Amino acid sequence: MKEQLATIRTEALAAFASAGTAGDLDALRVKYLGKKGELTAVLKQMGKLTPEERPAMGALANEVRSALEGALEAASEKLEAAALAQRLRDEAVDVTIPGKAVALGHRHPMYIALDEIKDIFIGMGFTVLDGPEVELASYNFDKLNAEEGHPSRDWSDTFYFDEDSRVMLRSQTSPMQVRAMDTMPLPIRIVAPGRVYRKDEVDATHSPMFHQVEGMVIDRHITMADLKGTLNAMVEQLYGKGTKTRFRPHHFPFTEPSCEMDVQCHKCGGAGCPTCKGEGWIELLGAGMIHPHVLEMAGIDPEVWSGWAFGIGLERTAMRRFKIADLRLIFENDMRFLEQF
Ligand code: DAH
Repeated sequence: MKEQLATIRTEALAAFASAGTAGDLDALRVKYLGKKGELTAVLKQMGKLTPEERPAMGALANEVRSALEGALEAASEKLEAAALAQRLRDEAVDVTIPGKAVALGHRHPMYIALDEIKDIFIGMGFTVLDGPEVELASYNFDKLNAEEGHPSRDWSDTFYFDEDSRVMLRSQTSPMQVRAMDTMPLPIRIVAPGRVYRKDEVDATHSPMFHQVEGMVIDRHITMADLKGTLNAMVEQLYGKGTKTRFRPHHFPFTEPSCEMDVQCHKCGGAGCPTCKGEGWIELLGAGMIHPHVLEMAGIDPEVWSGWAFGIGLERTAMRRFKIADLRLIFENDMRFLEQF
């Protein structure tokens, strides 16, 4: 029995010391110290000993047990320390490795043009409004003096949601004039940029979705001179001091009188060239004095208040500003194009 205990001790100590993982070590604990382990098996034979032999053998067995337990603990600590060291090695961060460059985006050319326009008008005390793209036909047409039968209301031009043409994708930002009149106290100075929709085929100058910026002023004693002065100020800031403009008579249902404003061609200075199709002028926007009936429909007394409004196409403004030849480039999101701005 003495020899058995000695053998167990030698074998177990050697095995513990060479265990490679915590799992191996636990299996060895069961093998030597477990209930059905080798040490327990020896102890079960104690009954066969004489009463004189028992105390000495008991003491020896206890000594072997505590030696095994001590060795087991030491081996376990050694394994843990090794595992920690390994993890520290594996998870080490090398701060000298060059970082991954983050590709920083930038503003889209059309939004650069929009921000410029916003800045100009904010500088003159205007408020910037945002409005719904899904609009009531009453706001897009009726309250803007374009009654039933007006050609712009045709199904071939407009995206309607319902059979009786009451809800639609707005075809212009002009309904924001009505929304501003409905909700804001007078006097009003607003610009309202946003998307508009028309049933147009895509080509170099058309898209079924494009952007406009609406502008409107209502106050006492507002005249066409205010409209011309403000739009000239905008053009000079967009295209440079001294840029010439021209106002041509036109028709819009919600303004009277109405006009279109052209800027002198930046390419040829008015002499005529391919950019301006030989005209010397490039059409920029529609504008006019708000029709008294439009004011009346919004509950504003046209004897006391008057106003002007304009609507400018944003894509065209950006195309002119950055000399972009094809409208489709603005929407295609081709990085080779976008990265040039
Ligand atoms: N809404 C017009 C269009 O889409 C543009 C326009 C013209 C807006 C005259 C106005 C305006 O505010 O006064 O063609």
